[in-house]
Amino acid sequence: MRISISSKIITSLFLLLISTQLIIAGGNPVRSKNGMVVTASPLASDIGAKILSQGGNAIDAAVAVGFALAVTYPIAGNIGGGGFMVIHLADGTNTTLDFRETAPLAAFEKMYLDSSGNYAPENSQLGWKSAGVPGTVHGLITALNKYGSMQLKEVIQPAIDLAENGFILTYDIANSINAYYDDFMKYESSKKIFTNNGKKFLEGDLFIQKDLANTLKLIRDKGIDGFYKKEIAEKFVAESQKNRGIFTLKDFEDYKTIEREPIIGSYRGYKIVSMAPPSSGGICLVQALNVLENFNFTKDEWGSSRYYHLLVETLKRVYADRSFHLGDPDFYPVPVGFLTSKKYGSNIANLITDKALPSNRISATNLKYHESEETTHYSVADKYGNAVSTTYTINSAFGNRIIVEGLGFLLNNEMDDFSSKPGAPNQFGLIGSAANSIQPKKRMLSSMTPTIVLKDDKPFMVIGSPGGSTIITQVLQTIQNVIDFGMNLYDAIAVPRIHHQWLPDEINYENHGLSEDVKRNMTERGHIIGSIKSLGRMEGILIDIKKNVFYGTSDPRGYGKATGY
Ligand code: DON
Repeated sequence: MRISISSKIITSLFLLLISTQLIIAGGNPVRSKNGMVVTASPLASDIGAKILSQGGNAIDAAVAVGFALAVTYPIAGNIGGGGFMVIHLADGTNTTLDFRETAPLAAFEKMYLDSSGNYAPENSQLGWKSAGVPGTVHGLITALNKYGSMQLKEVIQPAIDLAENGFILTYDIANSINAYYDDFMKYESSKKIFTNNGKKFLEGDLFIQKDLANTLKLIRDKGIDGFYKKEIAEKFVAESQKNRGIFTLKDFEDYKTIEREPIIGSYRGYKIVSMAPPSSGGICLVQALNVLENFNFTKDEWGSSRYYHLLVETLKRVYADRSFHLGDPDFYPVPVGFLTSKKYGSNIANLITDKALPSNRISATNLKYHESEETTHYSVADKYGNAVSTTYTINSAFGNRIIVEGLGFLLNNEMDDFSSKPGAPNQFGLIGSAANSIQPKKRMLSSMTPTIVLKDDKPFMVIGSPGGSTIITQVLQTIQNVIDFGMNLYDAIAVPRIHHQWLPDEINYENHGLSEDVKRNMTERGHIIGSIKSLGRMEGILIDIKKNVFYGTSDPRGYGKATGY
């Protein structure tokens, strides 16, 4: 029987309709042959790719991007915060740099408690006392000196130019700044930078940051000492004293980037290289994967109640362990080997039944939390075989919203990541224990999970996200979306995600992320369905070594870019 043209068209239209109903994502990543840079800011991605095209390696590009984001993505890009860099070198070395902020020397355990011993979150989130000693400049320059091939002046100059000459505000960046207008108006120094003479910015305005340009020039000319010993530290400390902060010059002089062994795990034959404490990211990711490896998933099981049940039951145990056992390893003995062992993973898997175990049977308190999107991750891979996965942050959106007068950069409010009082939740609803109590020079526990997945010991995925406590679960699901569910990188990043962090005992999910059927099945198993949230903003790379193709995807939830070279 012959099918007429029109009935063919109708048939294919019909198929198209069915498939758009069934397929949630269905996009393609950016492809390239020589390298890839994926960041939350198109300008920064282009700068990174240009460095690669000039012959720089992934570390050179990552450092250039780190400085560029401080200018073009002020909501989270920074030189006033801290972060973590996971590095895979072409010679097979895996290493990490910890440039997390430290508690100032004058910090003390109960500094955010009032006279009755109550924890007031605004104290650890607002004002000069909420900031830790910044680590970003130390970390980026250390990375360049140890593993880069270019000069600091070459990789920092694009950021200086953008700060000095300005860049055109896109709709998204203008909006992100204007969303915090009321806060910026409270501080003269912030009003000067983040409002247009007291008015909100408009899309299309030229955004110039002269003070930041001058600070970056000092860093260019004087390196680490320029920031930590001389002019910048001195100005910073003077401003701190003026505003009843507790910083001293010694805080800056003592600051060190720490090179740490990565957390190494494996999942179904892939090697996982991720961040060690003081981030909880690597341990929690590997622990969760070790549990989930005990279950088989078919490709069609993505989004099913069986998968989400197993995922959530795993996460409850992982986040409970996080609260009890994790903190800065230089101050607290973190049981890394135990938590990341395959044996512990299979022990947990054996405890999981068909029913949800309520979180209060794993521990006691029930809590509420809110989440923002204000950290940023970027991924870089080069043609030489190097890869860099970096997440850095000033914690909340625009940190504590205070620009350091004359220096043009924002203060972090990372002190809120400490456990100010056992059992009292921080802004991400995370509770902690002695492991993460405040002590001078200690680094606050993080959830940042910059990760490199290796296949046959070569970079396969470079991945990470912002999202506070949800970062770990987002990275985990994106890796599973590729390895277990066979998605391409775009789909793996774009499809809706869910989150559970033990406390509060509820599942958060993204729009269209849980069908009514799945919700019903999950509820029947004893799960509590919580609210809808946007979860994470992945910036990822996947490398097909055999075909020599780099794939890049900037999360469609954000407004970044994958720039190939
Ligand atoms: O280090 C951490 O875990 C947090 N300070 C990260 C903050 C964050 O991701 C904010 N964005 N949602």
